Amino acid sequence: MKLVSQLFGMVLGALLYFPLLVIYDRFISPRIWKPPKVTLSTTPGCMSIKLGREESVTSKTLKGLLVALAENLIDHAESTLHIRDRVTLDRELGPMFRVEGELDTGDWSAAEGFKMLGQWLGTLSETIPYAHWEDLKLRLPNQPIDCSVLPTVRFAGFEPLPNLENLKTLTWSGHRRQLKDSWMPFTPDLLQSLTILNITCDITIDDCFYLLLHCKKITTFTLQTIVQRKINNADVSGIEPVFGRDLSGAQDQEIELSHLRSLTLASAQDIAPLFRPFKFTSLRAIDFNLSYDGSLKDIKESIPWAELKRVHLGGRVRRTDVTWVKSRCPGAHHTCFCIKRIKY
Ligand SMILES: *[C@@H]1O[C@H](CO)[C@@H](O)[C@H](O)[C@H]1NC(C)=O
Ligand SMILES: *[C@@H]1O[C@H](CO)[C@@H](O)[C@H](O)[C@H]1NC(C)=O
Repeated sequence: MKLVSQLFGMVLGALLYFPLLVIYDRFISPRIWKPPKVTLSTTPGCMSIKLGREESVTSKTLKGLLVALAENLIDHAESTLHIRDRVTLDRELGPMFRVEGELDTGDWSAAEGFKMLGQWLGTLSETIPYAHWEDLKLRLPNQPIDCSVLPTVRFAGFEPLPNLENLKTLTWSGHRRQLKDSWMPFTPDLLQSLTILNITCDITIDDCFYLLLHCKKITTFTLQTIVQRKINNADVSGIEPVFGRDLSGAQDQEIELSHLRSLTLASAQDIAPLFRPFKFTSLRAIDFNLSYDGSLKDIKESIPWAELKRVHLGGRVRRTDVTWVKSRCPGAHHTCFCIKRIKY
């Protein structure tokens, strides 16, 4: 009797799981037999995921698949994957979307999860084409992920680039390696349309230069944290640039960042070399958290102090610099200085 009920259970289970397995095979690498738990959440406006492309919306489209997978698929891993979206309206293009992808590593490999997140986002793009993504937020683990260890997963037609052409806002956190080694590398193509970029990642000043250089329309740039570049092989605390663009070669250039209004930087390394090549003609707000013992001497020339409306200087800023800055930006509405005094 027990055997019969077990058999019955197995057959029923197989029948129930068959359609899901088909979906699973189609969208997720067959190698990964224990995919992470998937959580999908939407804001009320988000039901408008159906607005992506009317003609392609059927019960078998992405939303159905994602929901079905989320509700039925596998609870084995503790890891969580979120894909969220929300609708805003753009008159010319039609509905524009905000997409959030989030990857938490659990007892499964970060590389598998990372690839899978790319596939899910790619799958989402079949219903909501990348051209309709306006705001993208990606949160990845702060550990390097080696994508080459996985067998190639077919992304045919799923690559975000160059199709993320209308992306305006990008919020990204993760390990610097994934700025390059990714299904969405930070190429000039990706950066050129952005107006708001917010990166939480330890990178070198050379990489920060690369980002600013290619963000030609940027109005708000936020980066935490610039850290020390590796000086030589014996240097264990420093890190290597990811993009390999050497800032020292750019010191004589004059590059105008004519749209940049707000610049937020946290840095453990002198930011003066970053300021030399750029002209910040529209800058109105700065927020610097400087954790090195330095002075503002070398960046004084580069910033239109008199135009600033908001100034925040934090970290290890010298009192003489504070006095100087206060005298230079009388028009700043919210001047706030947090000073950790340094001895010298
Ligand atoms: C930038 O992103 C971080 C984490 O993703 C967030 O905590 C922070 O508030 C964001 N900053 C801005 C200015 O949006
Ligand atoms: C400033 O930067 C330091 C070092 O990176 C960090 O520990 C601190 O939390 C930052 N402060 C603010 C207000 O962001």
